[in-house]
Amino acid sequence: MSLFQTKSIESLQKEAAADVGLRRSLSRMNLVSLGIGAIIGAGIFVLTGQAAAQYAGPAIAISFVISGLGCLFAGLCYAEFAAMIPISGSAYTYSYATLGEFFAWIIGWDLILEYLFVAPTVAVGWSGHFVAFLKEFNIVLPVHLTQAPFDYVNGHLVSTGHLMNLPAVGIIAMLTWLLVIGIKESATFNNYMVVTKVSVLLAIIGFGIWYLLGHHDLAVKNWTPFIPANTGTYGQFGWSGIFKGAAVIFFAYIGFDAVSTAAQEAKNPQKDMPMGIVGSLLICTVLFITISVILTGMSKYTELNNAAPVVNALQAAGAPLALRFVVEIAAIAGLSSVILVMLLGQPRIFFSMANDGLLPAVFAKVHPRFKTPYVTTIITGVLSAILGGLMPLSILGEMVSIGTLFAFVIVCISIVVLRKTRPDAPRPFRTPLVPLVPILGAGICFLQMYALPADTWWRLVIWMAVGIAIYFGYSRHHSKLNKSGR
Ligand code: ALA
Repeated sequence: MSLFQTKSIESLQKEAAADVGLRRSLSRMNLVSLGIGAIIGAGIFVLTGQAAAQYAGPAIAISFVISGLGCLFAGLCYAEFAAMIPISGSAYTYSYATLGEFFAWIIGWDLILEYLFVAPTVAVGWSGHFVAFLKEFNIVLPVHLTQAPFDYVNGHLVSTGHLMNLPAVGIIAMLTWLLVIGIKESATFNNYMVVTKVSVLLAIIGFGIWYLLGHHDLAVKNWTPFIPANTGTYGQFGWSGIFKGAAVIFFAYIGFDAVSTAAQEAKNPQKDMPMGIVGSLLICTVLFITISVILTGMSKYTELNNAAPVVNALQAAGAPLALRFVVEIAAIAGLSSVILVMLLGQPRIFFSMANDGLLPAVFAKVHPRFKTPYVTTIITGVLSAILGGLMPLSILGEMVSIGTLFAFVIVCISIVVLRKTRPDAPRPFRTPLVPLVPILGAGICFLQMYALPADTWWRLVIWMAVGIAIYFGYSRHHSKLNKSGR
């Protein structure tokens, strides 16, 4: 069979309608909330300030617009696919239908970079906030139990003498347990976290606007020059800095695509998927752009290069202690739901790959009582806990971004391909202005990949080489499509 054999839309739609044992309980609001749950996290609370300080200055708001447009165009493409082929494999399944099995495997393998690596990366951030929060109450956890035993220094793995990052392992274990016992329970927990973090972001915006109106001159001073002059080095301020900033804060947008992995648990995926994906993205885009403008108005951008830029900017602006306190709580809540939704997405992609025979059949097991893909959920949880508890994660953030951007590029291209090969297939949601929107989406996402460091590209190539070896060593021989010869 050809490497590029595709699965037919009809067979995929049959699969999507079939009862695979998962529980269909997610409403439209649940899906929007899952998207927001996955998006708002470390990106806005930490990376925005740091990227403003190092790359773009106040023009980080323009970086958010550029990156947000790339995501919006890619999100519209995801929406068409997710409504048309509502299967939990997400971009993996969409590529199977358009570019064939080999590309599907490549994307499935690539998505591990997104979901499996975001969860521990954010869990380590969660641990930092949690430890700092406990300190407010004079509870100090022993450092041996809050730091990984290894660090990555100048290209070498060195021992730190610590035991493990126990809070990171703890939060991953707790959320994995929640995901095993039910999708409804997980969605409800996520709803609470989302309400907490969105309310607090709105409170920050409210305080920020009030403060900036009262300190008009200071704000104008902080925003001038809006685009600081380039220092002579590519990526340090000026327009190249805005693009570098866009590539860095892209991380903040990651997550809306995870909504599509819940397609087989949505009550009405054809109607609700586009709303879940695009709706959550639009809400967060507006919040992000507003907060980035406020942040650089309250604090000079040069002062935002620290571990908690939002809290520190509020402190500098004399915000009431209570507001700073709730921002800490919102960061902890916010990061929990990012971890939750990532730990929800990965097992469902593995689940779909196993249903197609590309991974062992045990990965496709669904719990008879809880109706969740519990085997892959536990595997994902254990791998994430090992990474989050033991490994230095400084290099993972950029891997996550490049991996996700790559998936977005392929999804955008796939929309154009499918409009050509299957113009007649029923599409409950149509991406507007094809091929303009997908081409722009793929272009902006590729530019952001380009702005990431060469090391990250090398790591992507090595990761892919490992994936291709597994494909030819195992998956190709076990593929159901390959065996059926269709
Ligand atoms: N968008 C998610 C975050 O900012 C991954 O943490």
